[in-house]
Amino acid sequence: MAVDTVTLPADEAAIAEAARRIGAGECVAVPTETVYGLAADATNGEAVARIYEAKARPGFNPLIVHVPDIETAKRIAGFKSETDRLAQRYWPGPLTLVLPHRDDSGIASLVTAGLNTIALRVPAHPVMRALLEAAGVPLAAPSANASGRISPTRADHVAASLGGKIGLILDGGASEGGIESTIISHDLRLLRPGPITPSRIKQETGLTITQAQGGAVEAPGQLASHYAPAKPLRLEAMAAEASEWLIGFGPVEGDASLSRSGDLVEAAANLFARLHEAEASDRPRIAVAPVPDTGLGAAINDRLRRAAAPR
Ligand code: TXA
Ligand code: MG
Repeated sequence: MAVDTVTLPADEAAIAEAARRIGAGECVAVPTETVYGLAADATNGEAVARIYEAKARPGFNPLIVHVPDIETAKRIAGFKSETDRLAQRYWPGPLTLVLPHRDDSGIASLVTAGLNTIALRVPAHPVMRALLEAAGVPLAAPSANASGRISPTRADHVAASLGGKIGLILDGGASEGGIESTIISHDLRLLRPGPITPSRIKQETGLTITQAQGGAVEAPGQLASHYAPAKPLRLEAMAAEASEWLIGFGPVEGDASLSRSGDLVEAAANLFARLHEAEASDRPRIAVAPVPDTGLGAAINDRLRRAAAPR
């Protein structure tokens, strides 16, 4: 479905319009100091699903959540003294911390792709900071490019890649960084190299960041060990067999449904909550109704196939 894409200079009125759209569950492209991000309300699962729809990502990678300050970050995730030191030193700035996720954070489960950790950063770019303040919610934002395309550092890069897919691009000029944020885990491993290097961190904080063997770094999409339920999972199920918890979709009702109306945005938003629920049920097996492979359905099916694969 094509939409009109407007690019507006990121003045006060445009930021207010962007915040209004975020509140309405849309996603908006916004400059950060690293690359342009495609931002949506991280507490609204359907809004987050629209990020994946716009990017046409073939699967669900956990996303980075942007917050205005350390206090807000601490309501969402757990810190220890080392990660607190990193946050105090490098936020606002191009550092993302992957931390234990608090149960009561209010963040939609699609953001973390069902994991019990969450990637957080406090961005430095004035436009992103103004949008965080105006929107008043944490913003999930991956780079604002279609899947498989390079990360955008200018509004016209975003328009070339996502034009017709998103309603609004805030133009804040060129991102000065151009390289995505450094990602560091709770146990101080380098998950993605970026502008803030381990040697600089050592110098400035005394903390040792462990790098991957031989300097090799895994592809970003493979960084997260993806959540999969611990029970066997059967796909394309039209009805539950004995001892199965059935996750329905559309006409297949099930014990719970991804979306009774067959809406793929709603289904994506519900996917990880339904899987966790099925895993916690008293039945030893899980079955899932067929989901069409169109649009967001491809990403849903990709995740379901991974969850069903024998381990
Ligand atoms: O500079 C940046 O970080 C940009 C701007 C827009 O802020 N954002 C960005 O987001 O690069 P994205 O979605 O393209 O990259 C997110 C990365 C992925 O490699 C993902 O695997 C990792 O963060 N990630 C997110 N949550 C994670 C988690 N819980 N555990 C491990 N890795 C995680
Ligand atoms: Mg990216």
